[in-house]
Amino acid sequence: MELTVARNAGFCFGVEKAVSAVYEAVGQKNRIYTYGPIIHNETVVEDLTRRGVGVIHSLEEVDRLAAESAESGEKITIVIRSHGVSEDVISHIQKSGLSVIDTTCPFVSRIHQLVEDASKKGSQIVIIGNAGHPEVVGTMGWSHEPAAVIGTAEEAEHWDGDLSRPVLVVAQTTFNTDKFQELVAILQRRAYNIAVVNTICNATRMRQQEARRVAAQSDVMIVIGGKSSSNSAKLYEICRKECRDTYFIQTVKDLPERDFSTLRVGITAGASTPKNIIEEVQNYVRTGRREF
Ligand code: F3S
Repeated sequence: MELTVARNAGFCFGVEKAVSAVYEAVGQKNRIYTYGPIIHNETVVEDLTRRGVGVIHSLEEVDRLAAESAESGEKITIVIRSHGVSEDVISHIQKSGLSVIDTTCPFVSRIHQLVEDASKKGSQIVIIGNAGHPEVVGTMGWSHEPAAVIGTAEEAEHWDGDLSRPVLVVAQTTFNTDKFQELVAILQRRAYNIAVVNTICNATRMRQQEARRVAAQSDVMIVIGGKSSSNSAKLYEICRKECRDTYFIQTVKDLPERDFSTLRVGITAGASTPKNIIEEVQNYVRTGRREF
């Protein structure tokens, strides 16, 4: 059997930094909450829950915790995850009196800055990405006027921006590079005066390129990632095009009983997949034994 594990599989720099920051904070006295699950990986989130880390989802919960902390004197820390949040959310948390650990990935902060500056100067903002993804929602919140989110060719064809005003186009950091170029080309063809900054992060770009290469040389491809991880879903999409026999799994438990011994097998993983989960899959493919 030939087994190829992509070198760029698993935690990226931003996720690594965010997850380590939470584990470091756990050892301190403060009660810790993450604003949304720290990453799209149930195993990591469950482990943190066991260590007493809570997850909150709204500013109402921030206010409730601030009131509790003021009453009891107990110190509480809110961790902002690598996806980042809108300007309103971060300033609300900062004003609440609770401690903040901001692990927004610097590549995401750069997008916030671009969007804020351009919209302040009068540009319309288009984010090429998935509407509803937390990073996109956060980025929208840095624009001084409502930003548009475009994720499909149809949306690019029908976007009704103002043709007389400039447009800044940025991307969700984990968006598919080919699709980004396709959607930008549509906007350009429709004669919009656009400035394009390809903000797809390098880690994503390299991960996608490598996944495509490995999948093209494999009989079976395995993509490991959380169900709600959009970068993992995109990896699956890319691999599936090159290799029809592609699995999208969360852990080794999701793989069927199968003899891989005569096949060329490729493995890649999304940015929120911890190393040990990749190793478990690797071991199973090599030995046929699952170790949980
Ligand atoms: Fe940051 Fe890129 Fe990861 S934007 S969080 S290093 S995918």
